[in-house]
Amino acid sequence: MVFDIITAVPELLDSPFAHSILKRGIDAGLLEINIINLRDYGLGKHKQIDDYQYGGGAGMVMMVEPLDNCISSLKESNDYDEIIFLTPDGDVFNQSTANYLSTQRRLMLILGHYKGIDQRIRDIHVTKEISIGDYVLSGGELPAAVLVDAVSRLIPGVMNDGTSALTDSFQDGLLAPPVYTRPAEFKGHKVPDILLSGHDEKISEWRLSQSEKITESKRPDLL
Ligand code: ADE
Repeated sequence: MVFDIITAVPELLDSPFAHSILKRGIDAGLLEINIINLRDYGLGKHKQIDDYQYGGGAGMVMMVEPLDNCISSLKESNDYDEIIFLTPDGDVFNQSTANYLSTQRRLMLILGHYKGIDQRIRDIHVTKEISIGDYVLSGGELPAAVLVDAVSRLIPGVMNDGTSALTDSFQDGLLAPPVYTRPAEFKGHKVPDILLSGHDEKISEWRLSQSEKITESKRPDLL
């Protein structure tokens, strides 16, 4: 699966994809993440990419031409399943959107900064607008890192244990049950006996009942 990510601040994306599961996915050839510097498409000597907004008001707006040139050149060489703009006024991201995106072949992510991007880019190119939650961040880079992580770990082979992603919180509409590792007792707190019993079926039942209990108390809206 390929992500082409357009950003005005590529440095912000140096680290999130360079470690752990995402790095493994990239090294294994299951994942390709291309960071495109919007500044390379900036206008004039100063490679301008933002300007004052029509109608007045605080905050700069990302200009239509650099973004359009960048997006159009990517579209000329690739087919995109979705062209996604990360924005606080988009549809709120959740596990079901992550599942859907993980089945796609190539996605373009457009990351805004400042006050936002010229509306015409949204009208002309964008097929999906996604928010990672009801709060405003200073740019789309952290939201993009969140989206790429959530989607990539669902791609078969990216995680070591293929079944692990399926037992995550939200994947079956429930929050995950508690997990434990050694030692079996710590400062008087014991691991539940059932987990030491070796009885797989009983353990599954216990985990499901814990999931239901926790979901009911923490997130009854999910039930
Ligand atoms: N850009 C700024 N805030 C954002 C958010 N909450 N979700 C997606 N993109 C954003």
